[in-house]
Amino acid sequence: MAGLADVMQAKGDQHGKTHMRLLFQFRFLPLTLSALLALAALVAATVWPDWASFFTCTFVGFAMLVALGLHDISQTRHAVLRNYPIAAHLRFLLESVRPEMRQYFFEGEKDGAPFPRDKRAIVYQRAKKELDKRPFGTMYDVYQEQYEWLHHSLAPSAPLPIDQMRVQIGTYSASLLNISAMSYGALSANAIRALNKGAQAGGFFHDTGEGGVSPYHREQGGDLVWEIGSGYFGCRAADGGFDPAKFAANAADPQIKMIEVKLSQGAKPGHGGVLPAAKVTGNRRHSRRADGSRLRLPRQPFGVFHPHWAFALHRAAARSVRRQAHRLQALHRA
Ligand SMILES: Cc1cc2nc3c(=O)[nH]c(=O)nc-3n(C[C@H](O)[C@H](O)[C@H](O)COP(=O)(O)O)c2cc1C
Repeated sequence: MAGLADVMQAKGDQHGKTHMRLLFQFRFLPLTLSALLALAALVAATVWPDWASFFTCTFVGFAMLVALGLHDISQTRHAVLRNYPIAAHLRFLLESVRPEMRQYFFEGEKDGAPFPRDKRAIVYQRAKKELDKRPFGTMYDVYQEQYEWLHHSLAPSAPLPIDQMRVQIGTYSASLLNISAMSYGALSANAIRALNKGAQAGGFFHDTGEGGVSPYHREQGGDLVWEIGSGYFGCRAADGGFDPAKFAANAADPQIKMIEVKLSQGAKPGHGGVLPAAKVTGNRRHSRRADGSRLRLPRQPFGVFHPHWAFALHRAAARSVRRQAHRLQALHRA
């Protein structure tokens, strides 16, 4: 038993020494110094009673720092506070003023998203009716490596043969430039008519958007890409699920050249979109084959499209984009 007590005592002594050594390590210096200065202020307050109030205030200040340091080393939430008691608060302080420091001192004229500093400055200047004129000339470093720009030619170049501006997708020869998905409902009937007329005249396709095919998409006869989102508009069963028969009937429409399955959208990550019931009326109800209740769009998970499809589609799309990029590079070089 005596042996065990000796060992325990030796261990205790060792721990005590380790703690003492720790106190004089550089990272513990603020805590140790605060403790020593608090002690010194206390002694000074008793030695020089005329200065008692000054030394008492000094003591309280350092005692608070000691309390802060002791709290830092005993808490387990922030490793940096535990390792660098008191001093590490500087890090949090600096971090809290980081945005201001960046904005006032370090941010370049062209830094900042979505609007760079110089654009924001113009907005502020105009709002305050201050001078908002800028000299001509760019502030970008146009001589830096990999700086890219579009250059117009002084004389019109010979138009490229139209077949070089197309890409074969299955049996459909698609234009490289088309109309991206914007649903009827998000756009008015006249906007849909105008876009589809443009597609018809220019020989490119018009993506319906996930709202499905409306009567206005059909009036001008321009090529359509039917986009299907998880609302299944155009192939929606009464219970809101996927209706294969409706899908087959709609897909056979000769105006519909391709079908796009919209798995997700960057603009609505994880949230989906809400189509208020009040908007699901008349032709909108017709084209979406919806019952008029409030619909949540792409958040609802796809029941019919297996995730493996997504990977296959993704790979195929990546291949197609690579091919198109090579084509465009070849065209550019020629
Ligand atoms: C009014 C409007 C409606 C849209 N509706 C859809 C849609 O139904 N499905 C879809 O995939 N994208 C939709 N989009 C996204 C566009 O197809 C396009 O990807 C997006 O606007 C980015 O292209 P931009 O930078 O040329 O505007 C819509 C965009 C707008 C402005």
